[in-house]
Amino acid sequence: MTTQKRILTGDRPTGRLHLGHYLGSIEARVRLQHEYKTFLIIADLHMLTTKNSSDDISHIDENARQMVIDYLACGIDPVKVTIYLQSAIHEVYELNTLFQNLVTVPRLQRLPSLKDMARAAHKEEMSYGLLGYPILQAADILTPRAHLVPVGKDNLAHVEITREIARRFNSLYGEVFPIPEAMVPQMGTLVGTDGQAKMSKSLGNAILLSDDAKTVRKKVFSMYTDPKRIRADIPGTVEGNPVFIYHDFFNPDQAEVEDLKARYQAGRVGDVEVKEKLTLALNNFLDPIRQRRAQIEADTGFVDEVIYEGTLRTRQEAQATLLAAKKAMGLTGVWNRISRRAERRRKKSAKQQANAGS
Ligand code: TRP
Repeated sequence: MTTQKRILTGDRPTGRLHLGHYLGSIEARVRLQHEYKTFLIIADLHMLTTKNSSDDISHIDENARQMVIDYLACGIDPVKVTIYLQSAIHEVYELNTLFQNLVTVPRLQRLPSLKDMARAAHKEEMSYGLLGYPILQAADILTPRAHLVPVGKDNLAHVEITREIARRFNSLYGEVFPIPEAMVPQMGTLVGTDGQAKMSKSLGNAILLSDDAKTVRKKVFSMYTDPKRIRADIPGTVEGNPVFIYHDFFNPDQAEVEDLKARYQAGRVGDVEVKEKLTLALNNFLDPIRQRRAQIEADTGFVDEVIYEGTLRTRQEAQATLLAAKKAMGLTGVWNRISRRAERRRKKSAKQQANAGS
């Protein structure tokens, strides 16, 4: 049997997930879990690079659990997939320290993703930790020695840094790490219900995977459509219209979508019908996810156990990787020799003392 290739990907623990997460990452993870040995990281240490108040930290537990419930409700199989808590893997902190010497500061300072994160967090100046965000991510990816990293476009540069670190490590100390490949979704990002470029919980334009049917209806009916179309008999634009973007993604009845589009462009359908049908399509899509969510929630402690088991499994991987890295670097030898000599001397002086006493 050839050993299965590995995926590592994951998210910062921000809580419940939305439709944008589903299309952008969850769907691919569910599909690929059969083909790859998959590790999903709950990246709470990465969260600390922009949110590290005691209050922020006190929410990690519940946010992580809600996020994992969404993963499982969408079809992630906890038997196949290893889900783990980053901050509980000590070896990640250690690898992070070792990797810090393999990247230059200007290389990190040039990354737009870090500047965006600093701006979004209202930080005028970047912390040392935020500058090191991609190095910590490299430590994550290289911990299980992953081959494939499915990520959003905003994380591509971080995988590139990971590749540079892995190559640099291998050439300095010997082949320890595979050079991982990034994989980005083809579909681009899902617009928000307000027509803004990105669905995001903090922008308040998201439909959550855990929203109930009534909430989904309310959100759909508040959706932005074609602003020029103030009456149903005015021809409207379909391209870039959020309501039709959602229909394209979530309404499996293609004929219905084409009919709605044709009538919309001809000024022969009202927004109400378009939105009513979208509500139905979304609720049909979300219903099985809601049902699984309810089952998982009813099984007290199940999610904790999934994270617990996954973290213990990842620890073993991480220990083996860290040891391989330190051995390749010749670091384990330094301590081993010093401690061996020191112990020999201790024994000797203990014997001398015993002899002197007798
Ligand atoms: N940087 C990811 C985010 O934007 C989270 C993350 C941390 C991650 N470590 C990772 C993603 C490793 C993929 C691989 O939230």
